[in-house]
Amino acid sequence: MKRLFFALWPNNETRKNIDKINQSISSAGLKRVKCDNLHVTLVFLGNVGAESETMIRQRMKNISAQPFTIQFDQLSFWRKPRILCLTTQQYDQQLLILVDALKRELEQCGMVMEDRPYKPHITLARKALRLIDMDIKPIKWQAHSFCLIESLSIPDGVHYQVLQRWNFK
Ligand code: 2AM
Repeated sequence: MKRLFFALWPNNETRKNIDKINQSISSAGLKRVKCDNLHVTLVFLGNVGAESETMIRQRMKNISAQPFTIQFDQLSFWRKPRILCLTTQQYDQQLLILVDALKRELEQCGMVMEDRPYKPHITLARKALRLIDMDIKPIKWQAHSFCLIESLSIPDGVHYQVLQRWNFK
């Protein structure tokens, strides 16, 4: 079994800019997401067997989405998961079209999708206790592709590995 999720994966420049914001947050006890792991989750799958993974990958050729831009311009604190994350007020509907299309294809593979409304975010840090008041230089994220990611346990935490990338048509 592999622990999998679909995500938008940043280019190096965007990754560095997000990490710059992350490193400038000063608060005791925060567990910062490592620079290499920063991403926007599209759909979380959880544990998936080899056969299902093959089927899921094949189904992805049915996804057609247009490139889009998301501007992450707000630092948010989500109390329940105790995360600090970058969020956005307004975003291109192409993102929702993509997430819905992914869910539809995954349902066709027999996966049960959660029906909570999708909230795009970049998790910066876990174990947060409160919102940090600071100005954010907006992150302009150009999305040209989406990726299948494996979450691997490593001695000092977790590593997210890109398994496959699909470019938008
Ligand atoms: P995040 O998107 O808020 O960071 C891998 O675990 C990624 O999938 C993480 O980025 C995580 O949260 C996201 N994710 C979404 N739903 C999840 C769930 N039910 N369990 C674990 N991770 C989940």
